Amino acid sequence: MHRLQDIESAFARRGGEQYAGEPVTQLEHALQTAALAEADGADDELVTACLLHDLGHLLRDLGATPTLRGLDDRHQYAALPLLQGLFGERVLGGIRLHVDAKRYLCATRPGYVAALSPDSQRSLALQGGVYSAAQAAGFIAQTGAESAVRLRLWDDAAKVAGAATPPLSHFLARARRCALS
Ligand SMILES: [Fe+2]
Ligand SMILES: [Fe+2]
Repeated sequence: MHRLQDIESAFARRGGEQYAGEPVTQLEHALQTAALAEADGADDELVTACLLHDLGHLLRDLGATPTLRGLDDRHQYAALPLLQGLFGERVLGGIRLHVDAKRYLCATRPGYVAALSPDSQRSLALQGGVYSAAQAAGFIAQTGAESAVRLRLWDDAAKVAGAATPPLSHFLARARRCALS
């Protein structure tokens, strides 16, 4: 369980940093995403994926707003080495697929692209752009893709300045409940 402490330390060290282009910190964004999932009745694994979906941002430092420099930070993969073996595939898959879920939603949901924040629209192009119909069908056929889409919709809504949420300790307790060891 010491890796849960590593996660807590990462939030303590860098959770106060601004989420690029949004009016929330990294910690606020993580807590709001998890709280929206919880309010919708998501189980421990999906709530944990929500809490940790952007942990990769906290484990690497690419400076402020990398999309402005044409960089795809590939943050959906950065936390996986830390989380492998600690959580099962339902947690890892939600994290790994949350960027591709955006590409899927852009292809399948009218008005979704236009509603994305400017930073999210910039990163979309860097992440490969909107899926074709065939790519979207291939994406959603994968195990865990439906959950990643749910995560993505909570993620998009989790950028509200000053929104009240339960504390990190509440969600770490849910993470502990679904940890493998
Ligand atoms: Fe993300
Ligand atoms: Fe996010």
